[in-house]
Amino acid sequence: MNVVAKPLEKFVTNSLEQHWMPFTANREFKDAPRLITKSEGMYLWNQNGDRLIDGSSGLFNVAAGHGRREIADAVYAQMLQNDYTAPFQLGQPTSFALASKLTGILPDALNHVFFTNSGSESIDTALKIAMSYHRARGDGQRIRFVSRERAYHGVNMGGVSLAGMVKNRETFPAVMPNVVMMRHTWDPDNCFTKGQAERGAKLADDLQRHCETYGGSTIAAVFVEPVAGSTGTLVPPKGYLQRLRQICDQHGILLVFDEVITGFGRLGTPFAAHAFDVVPDIITMAKALTNGAIPMGAVAVRDEVYETVTEAAPEDAIEFFHGYTYSAHPAACAAGLATLQIYEDEGLFERSAQMSEYFLDAMWSLKDIPVVRDLRGIGMMAAVEVFPEEGKPGTRGNGLQKSLFWNGCHVKWTGDSAIVAPSFIAVKQHIDEIVDCLRRTLEEI
Ligand SMILES: Cc1ncc(COP(=O)(O)O)c(C=O)c1O
Repeated sequence: MNVVAKPLEKFVTNSLEQHWMPFTANREFKDAPRLITKSEGMYLWNQNGDRLIDGSSGLFNVAAGHGRREIADAVYAQMLQNDYTAPFQLGQPTSFALASKLTGILPDALNHVFFTNSGSESIDTALKIAMSYHRARGDGQRIRFVSRERAYHGVNMGGVSLAGMVKNRETFPAVMPNVVMMRHTWDPDNCFTKGQAERGAKLADDLQRHCETYGGSTIAAVFVEPVAGSTGTLVPPKGYLQRLRQICDQHGILLVFDEVITGFGRLGTPFAAHAFDVVPDIITMAKALTNGAIPMGAVAVRDEVYETVTEAAPEDAIEFFHGYTYSAHPAACAAGLATLQIYEDEGLFERSAQMSEYFLDAMWSLKDIPVVRDLRGIGMMAAVEVFPEEGKPGTRGNGLQKSLFWNGCHVKWTGDSAIVAPSFIAVKQHIDEIVDCLRRTLEEI
């Protein structure tokens, strides 16, 4: 057959219509697009060639800055060496290397890692691990999960079932049953508290009340983001996570920390579990695992969880009926290994810890701007929340995200809160540039 090549114009299109963009006001965006055509270090360049500083390190995942050649080289070399291995009943060396490197920085008790491709998949995987664990122990009546208002655990049906942010669930009513909510930890009396508030640990007793209402022995697991990220950096009050741990221990409930944002140095320690000195049973992660270069997620579990599930099955049987075609993809593993090496070689978790005070002080300098309703933050993550427009929550935040873009700064907004979380390669001038841009833009209102 004589194949005629299609004319090139067919592919070099100026149309934005065909791509249905995620979490985006598609019609508005396509009328006035904001495109990034290049990224390097702390900066992004838009379609007009203007430079923007990246105040949110992408979506809080580009912890080592953009354009890391070490990661690109590792992925390229891996693709030439072995582009893909079916991950069920077959293995390839990089996944074992990455799992063992990860357990080197995880809390001591968590020594087993299951790979996924995103934070959302990590949440679904953790839900299934919790169910499998209890079933293996003969505790299959634990059918209930506890989550929290204002929680974000990704977009798969498991994560939506646990979601506590209304827009992420009101359109999708057919979610998992048997999820009950604790109250969120935002308290107007704690506005402008830097780091952890003194008051509020008692909110953890909501879990105890659920145990009393439903029976602790019916609850499989509690999912919390140690610092609720997407809802605008809700820092847990002092003692709150410790109290959750205690209640979980009393009732045999698994404690899951969703560290998709807080993992990999965001709080100046490898994981938030280290920063708060509370060791959960399961940690979900993604984002900075590969510095944003390649999609990847992971779920780390305590030895007891892994051993209980695996030992419940016959020696030659599959123990956990779960996995993805792209679990532990070689390119993602190569990216993960190169990323962890950068964190280690450049001491980026320590740099995050060292820069935190300067960063938070700079953010708190915005306190005098009339539209600022609250500032929250810990480590290298902070939120500036603005007063909503009368009767239109979220509209002001959406407008501000666009204005910031044209004023030279990328910052992710959710509702009326900006989540500021720079890369750990940031020096003081970068922080100043982000905060100056925020000030200029907030003062335009
Ligand atoms: C705490 C938390 N969990 C899960 C997710 C979902 O991750 P992904 O978008 O990679 O599916 C996110 C994403 O922001 C998150 O912040």
